[in-house]
Amino acid sequence: NWPNAVTIKEVGPRDGLQNEKTVVSTEDKIAWINQLSRTGLKHIEITSFVNPKWIPPLADSLEVAQGIERVEGVTYSALVPNLRGLEGALKADLDEVAVFMSATEAHNKKNINKSIDETFPVLKETVDQALQAGKIVRGYLSTVFGCPYEGKTDVKQAVYVAQKLFDMGIHELSVGDTIGVANPAQVYEVLEELLKFVPAEKIAMHFHNTRGTALANVLASLDMGITTFDGALGGLGGCPYAPGASGNLATDDLLYMLHGMGISTGVDQGLMIESAKFIENRIGRPLPSHTLQTVRATCE
Ligand code: HMG
Ligand code: MG
Repeated sequence: NWPNAVTIKEVGPRDGLQNEKTVVSTEDKIAWINQLSRTGLKHIEITSFVNPKWIPPLADSLEVAQGIERVEGVTYSALVPNLRGLEGALKADLDEVAVFMSATEAHNKKNINKSIDETFPVLKETVDQALQAGKIVRGYLSTVFGCPYEGKTDVKQAVYVAQKLFDMGIHELSVGDTIGVANPAQVYEVLEELLKFVPAEKIAMHFHNTRGTALANVLASLDMGITTFDGALGGLGGCPYAPGASGNLATDDLLYMLHGMGISTGVDQGLMIESAKFIENRIGRPLPSHTLQTVRATCE
């Protein structure tokens, strides 16, 4: 009993580009996001307003956010770790902001330099002010299934932090498999717990494909009634503070599977492939998505 339609949230310009060795120019980022805006995507995470010393490839967040052409009906979002980050997103008048933290202490500390308990009040004031400014607020929970420093994550711990984020008033939680270790059995287990206190519409799944399990995990999530998935075109990306975190689930592979199953997304796969080739060219390495490999094989 799968849903008829799902929402795809493209995080390539943020989660993808933050972890590529090649830094894409501001102009090319803007051109790429403008292309993505015309593929039928309704949601694009364009950058993050974090300390540029921590994430140098996204140091131009304000220029990017102010430079893109905003297409009606597309929600533009950015990551914000604190009030300072929110200030940037508000300056660019983005539609949505995303706060983020981890389910595990060690990853939270490495990624945002605070313990889990120290993070709650920082995110709370950020969420409060974003809501007051009329913004949509997404929360990200990282290392839900496993942590590069602590191993398998305790489901109770992940659910505890998720609950805290919902208590702050976030509209949606993106459940992150930061280092791509999850399997479908874990997805069922975690979602069963989360769905006890929050409806499926408020949950998005954010899979990385490090070990090739991302699409299987999407299928498990569909079984549980989840209708929102994050992807990065071509399988770009990772997390710089999670060793071994390779690319996100490739949006083009996700589209291939969903469309084949008769699940609509409103996204034009042909335009996405064109857009993937554009960014692949700027990154200067073949991107890992299966769909792109197939396209290359057919063209050669
Ligand atoms: P900190 O050093 O603890 O911050 O960093 P601080 O409050 O002590 O401030 C220190 C300096 O940072 C100050 O500057 C601040 O102004 C500056 P100084 O006086 O030294 O010149 N600062 C900022 N600058 C720009 N923008 C800001 C900002 N805040 C403070 N917003 C902080 C704390 C969170 C800022 C830092 O750790 C950081 O930027 N971390 C970024 C980590 C990150 O972006 N990771 C990748 C994204 S998460 C991810 O990929 C996972 C996800 O995809 C889901 C999944 O897959 O699981 C979302
Ligand atoms: Mg991620």
